[in-house]
Amino acid sequence: MPQDFDLYERELWAGRAPSYERGFARLTQYMVGPLLDAAGVGGGTRLLDVGTGPGIVSAAAIRRGAEVSALDADPEMAETARKNVPGLDVRVAVLPDVPFEDAAFGAVAGNFVINHVGAPDLALAALRRVLRPAGWLALSCWAMPAAAGVLTAVREAIDEAGVPVPDDIPESPFMEYGEPAAFRRLVMEAGFTDVSVEEMTWEHVVDPEYWWETGALSKVGTNGVIIGRQDAATVARIKVAYDGVITRYATPDGKIALPAHALLASAAR
Ligand SMILES: C[S@@+](CC[C@H](N)C(=O)[O-])C[C@H]1O[C@@H](n2cnc3c(N)ncnc32)[C@H](O)[C@@H]1O
Repeated sequence: MPQDFDLYERELWAGRAPSYERGFARLTQYMVGPLLDAAGVGGGTRLLDVGTGPGIVSAAAIRRGAEVSALDADPEMAETARKNVPGLDVRVAVLPDVPFEDAAFGAVAGNFVINHVGAPDLALAALRRVLRPAGWLALSCWAMPAAAGVLTAVREAIDEAGVPVPDDIPESPFMEYGEPAAFRRLVMEAGFTDVSVEEMTWEHVVDPEYWWETGALSKVGTNGVIIGRQDAATVARIKVAYDGVITRYATPDGKIALPAHALLASAAR
């Protein structure tokens, strides 16, 4: 039986901060600039960065002259953000808990966090509460069903090796909102106005062995969880399949260029 999604998420992230920072954060980094632009973040903006992870959104916002607070559900992630962004006010909180006063912020941004919350509608309502009138929200998420590439190369290898997805792993409740019209509707239903959802695509160019290490063996994300449960012989079989799958994405200089497809929602309070 699938586990409660929020409980699953707490286990999913626990102890993963160092490997997330080395691997996936280099992928999510691509969306930081567009996200801050969409939230209208500039000098003097009072910004809340939700699901800060290693603090890459906060760091970029501070470079723009914003005054930033951040939160993350995972204590080690929060500690990593504090280390990376000295002086950053980082709270440990699980959305929809947002431990700030009503209307405390001029902007709220969340890079790839809304797809990790158990109740996206409640999280949105909570984020709206802490925004000032006319404040801006910007949220990114992966487009679903996942386009071939960055999220699917490892999963394809798992499938090819004949390893089933364990049935206790729950599906993200956000899954159904991972396409523009549904995401837009979700944000509007939370009371936001001027809602728009943009599709973003890019290529994540990475060394294939590095991606195997940080995107598969590191236990980050559901693919990592599945691989982490296998014995050595099965992991070796998945690796053989991975080596085959990635030939599709090979670049002339020995790297792989994995296509990424995300959504970026922006809205006014
Ligand atoms: C995919 S990472 C994104 C990190 C960072 N924003 C980035 O751009 O790389 C998702 C982060 O959200 C946090 N998270 C997951 N569920 C959360 C929740 N319900 N409330 C707050 N943070 C959450 C995780 O601990 C993790 O640090």
